[in-house]
Amino acid sequence: MRALARYAPPALAVAACSVALGPAGAPSRKAPTYASNVAPILNRQCVECHRPGQVAPFSLIGYENARKWSGAIVQMASARQMPPWKAVHGFGEFADERRLTDEQIQTLSDWDAAGAPRGDAAREPKPPTMRSGWTLGEPDLLLQPDRAYHLAAEGDDVYRNFILSTDFKEPVWVTGLDVRPGNPKVVHHVIVFLDGMGAAQRLEEAQNDGEPGYTSFGGVGFLPTGALGGWAPGLRARLAPEGTGLLVKPGVKLVLQVHYHKSGKPEVDRTQIGLYLARKPPEKQIGLMWLMKPGLKIPAGEQAFETEIDRRIGRDVTVYGAMPHMHLLGRMMQAEAGLPDGKRVPLIKVEDWDFRWQMAYGFRKPLRLPAGTHIRVSARYDNSASNPRNPNHPPKDVAWGEQTTDEMFLMIVPYTLDGPGEPPSFRMP
Ligand code: HEC
Repeated sequence: MRALARYAPPALAVAACSVALGPAGAPSRKAPTYASNVAPILNRQCVECHRPGQVAPFSLIGYENARKWSGAIVQMASARQMPPWKAVHGFGEFADERRLTDEQIQTLSDWDAAGAPRGDAAREPKPPTMRSGWTLGEPDLLLQPDRAYHLAAEGDDVYRNFILSTDFKEPVWVTGLDVRPGNPKVVHHVIVFLDGMGAAQRLEEAQNDGEPGYTSFGGVGFLPTGALGGWAPGLRARLAPEGTGLLVKPGVKLVLQVHYHKSGKPEVDRTQIGLYLARKPPEKQIGLMWLMKPGLKIPAGEQAFETEIDRRIGRDVTVYGAMPHMHLLGRMMQAEAGLPDGKRVPLIKVEDWDFRWQMAYGFRKPLRLPAGTHIRVSARYDNSASNPRNPNHPPKDVAWGEQTTDEMFLMIVPYTLDGPGEPPSFRMP
């Protein structure tokens, strides 16, 4: 999903040095200041979400905001809870990794400990101006729900699924997806699923609550036949690798799932997606490996329930990224490729799974896996009463399913076949 998802902003190539170096190159004892050391970090890594009208609950633009939040900033940065990026550093290699370095965390912490000094206000860097338009240029096709959706002021998060009206008469090749949240204050993340079975339509009709779309609890309410990608605030749109594209056949519906965070006020949203299309069929069709375990059963009370699957790839393939998916009990998920020569290649690992941050991670470089490679996916779940996210009190046995109270074990890996042919759907290549 490298291509079809939006990813994190560019890595911290030019972030400021966190420690001022003295003449001999030794760290000086001067405390870091907002103007010289902290503002560059916050501007680069935080303010795209922490600014007015965006999904984060407060702004981190300017000295006053940063000072007011300095303690919480250090806490969240040290725990690596912010910026949100769940893939473990060093296990797999990702494009646009969004991550603070240890030195940057130290800088934030030293700054807070020194009383959050401002430094020379005249030298403060300007916060970046954010592009609000389409990052990949004008899309070929704009789609949005027929009407605006009304979100209540308070209560649990909502997963709302909108069937986008498309009426493709010909196969369509999608090479990119971008998302323009209608109301960035409440749009937490977005996934676009494909439905070739008319399942979404039936769900919408059954729910029929007067608002566009239907609400689901954890998934989309059905097993999708594919996905075009996912997006979360601050993640950048990318085009599919040269010569590749994702096929949407006539009759297949696009289902836009929006995860809403309530704001305390009634809100209205009509999120738009932009699709980029190939002029002619690309050489290679992107397929999705759905590495999943529908037989999943997690016993009540078990704090560290571990399970895994091993799937053999029968063809030479190139893989582009990974998107782990679990629900509320999930704690860890990882994928590794075991090559025929015995070599093990780490793909992705999420150690501190957070259901609210569903992200598609793109590999830094496409990875070729020869026929005979095994992909091993393992996961750990906490179904004990001490898991604060456990939806069942007391805990009960939980199996694979679509509801909040159910679980999932799913890793989606976009790939292309290195030889001719069409990637099979729902079977391993
Ligand atoms: C992709 C968007 C995004 C980015 C980037 C981001 N945040 Fe956040 N932040 C959020 C959201 C959304 C919340 C609200 C809580 C949640 O949803 O987890 C939040 C909450 C917080 C909180 C409050 C946590 C609490 O509940 O007490 C702090 C502190 C914070 N962020 C600091 C930072 C810092 C520091 C950075 C940069 C290093 C950063 N954030 C980058 C989206 C973001």
